[in-house]
Amino acid sequence: MSTDLHTFMDRNEHLTGDDRMDRVHEEFHLLLLALRAAPADQAATALLDLITHTRDHFAQEDTWMRDLDYPIRDCHIQEHAEVLASLVQVHERLCQNDHRALPRLIHALEDWFPGHVQHLDSALAQWMVRRQWNAQPIMLRRNAASPTP
Ligand SMILES: [Fe+2]
Ligand SMILES: [Fe+2]
Repeated sequence: MSTDLHTFMDRNEHLTGDDRMDRVHEEFHLLLLALRAAPADQAATALLDLITHTRDHFAQEDTWMRDLDYPIRDCHIQEHAEVLASLVQVHERLCQNDHRALPRLIHALEDWFPGHVQHLDSALAQWMVRRQWNAQPIMLRRNAASPTP
């Protein structure tokens, strides 16, 4: 697993201010860890679990953006569609016993996820909170400089 993603989750930098979104992102992380750890003969199943989760995860965010008329939704929805298409493509290759693309996919997801959460999902969460409560979300995070207990 990439140090960046581990550090990102460990420091709670994935928190957006929306509990529902944060829980889904934690699940995504766990499923990605499970995919990385899966032996070759279980990789297709682990990837299918990730696809099932991701389809719901992205569909929920896309629905929020459309239903709430979120003004900068197009690039976010587009990014979801591209990531999901990549997952499905690699799953099709795994089903044909071609595992060559899997390590690249895992690495790409580990690189992509923190930026997506911090830039696109956090902006959506803040906008939803502002719209609902006319306020900014408050997030308490472990200080990066603090020693681990
Ligand atoms: Fe998300
Ligand atoms: Fe998203």
